[in-house]
Amino acid sequence: MNKIASVFVCQQCGNEFSKWQGKCSACNSWNSLVETARITKKNKSNSKNSSPVTRNPETVKLTDIKASKTERITTGISELDRALGGGMVAGQVILLAGEPGIGKSTILLQLADKLKNTLYVSGEESANQVAIRAKRLGINNKSIQFLENTDVDEIIGSLSTVDSSLSVVIIDSIQTMSTSDLTGLAGSVGQIKECAFRLLRYAKSNNVPLILVGHVTKEGTVAGPSVLMHIVDTVLWFEGEKMTNLRLLRSVKNRFGATDEVGIFSMEDKGLVSLDNPEKLFLQGNNFKKPISGSAIGLVMEGTRSILVEVESLVVPTKMAFPKRVAQGIDSKHLEMLLATLIRRVGIKLYEMDVFVNVAGGIKTKDPAIDLAVCLSIVSSFYDLPLPPKFLSFGEVGLLGEIRRTNFIEKRIKDAKRLGFVEIISPERFNSLPQVVHNYLSKK
Ligand code: TYD
Ligand code: MG
Repeated sequence: MNKIASVFVCQQCGNEFSKWQGKCSACNSWNSLVETARITKKNKSNSKNSSPVTRNPETVKLTDIKASKTERITTGISELDRALGGGMVAGQVILLAGEPGIGKSTILLQLADKLKNTLYVSGEESANQVAIRAKRLGINNKSIQFLENTDVDEIIGSLSTVDSSLSVVIIDSIQTMSTSDLTGLAGSVGQIKECAFRLLRYAKSNNVPLILVGHVTKEGTVAGPSVLMHIVDTVLWFEGEKMTNLRLLRSVKNRFGATDEVGIFSMEDKGLVSLDNPEKLFLQGNNFKKPISGSAIGLVMEGTRSILVEVESLVVPTKMAFPKRVAQGIDSKHLEMLLATLIRRVGIKLYEMDVFVNVAGGIKTKDPAIDLAVCLSIVSSFYDLPLPPKFLSFGEVGLLGEIRRTNFIEKRIKDAKRLGFVEIISPERFNSLPQVVHNYLSKK
């Protein structure tokens, strides 16, 4: 019979200890021991006496292996399907990570509503709390099964007694799960790894998709998601500002699909709503037809979709020795670089000015193609000159004041035209920022 023992393994040197200690006595690293379950074979005498068996696994030609098409299980939530690359796959293990309160439990309950025979395991909220949320979401699917438990072995035990075949198992959250084979508390690295591993084994051997919820803090440091990343098949990152309705579901790892897709949702009173056509979501008011100074419209890519964004800037004389530079929606260090480029390459006197830049609508973008719209909105505010109507710009701005090419240029131009823009400034038309400023924003 096999016996499970709890040992402490140093993550630096791999040595094992029977007791926890602050410092690894083999390699002297601090806090590197992680509790791990070891399966020991009781019946050792047999294997000692018997002669070692050499097993020679047969190799096969890669070209001879038939790649079967992966059948997708559609989730019934279009933006979730998009982030997953078309739906779930049997036996797929998905980690849904995000800050507390972002909407993980909400989307999973909505998913359970769309499918037949879901098991929702909650270690976090009581049955009553989940029922209140389900009522709020208008969920009335009689086939959803609920289990309030935190013992991973009991959960796996009851999975085998659930009579109908499950379409998906949801574990909310992996940080609340534990096994009595280890002494650590739920949420410790050892418990998270071991519980995830046991659940994963269940999912793979029963061909049931499994979704694990993992909480992260603002810094993304909490043990859970980072230690699970390489165990699971797919990692979906749920993000957004809690003060706004916008939620983005990014696929950061996917063994069954591309990782450049993003699901876009709006958090409403009755749960998350898929935004299938989000292009114009971030355009406030009528600014694109009748622009005001300080506003410039850009176009950024989220996955393979283009989204219009309005960049607003305010440039005012400073009262401080060091002028303020405040950026919302773009990286503030990057804003400093763009300001230096504007000062040096375009000759805009910004050194005694406070500069505030905001990407309207609460979207945060890392797409460098937003640079040109940021620069033009700053110059527009500085001169108090609006840009022409139906004007859109995109392109990365380099330190030499050059406009660099970005990805998807043709697609961006096509989409901008489709959305009604007439004056489209792209890296194909202009390659220098001073030239664009001279053409569209010079004081005559
Ligand atoms: P929740 O799904 O509990 O977040 P998580 O599981 O990631 O911790 O979401 C909680 C937030 O969502 C809460 O602040 C209220 C809000 N919310 C809505 O705005 N509309 C809804 O229909 C629901 C259920 C929640
Ligand atoms: Mg939750």
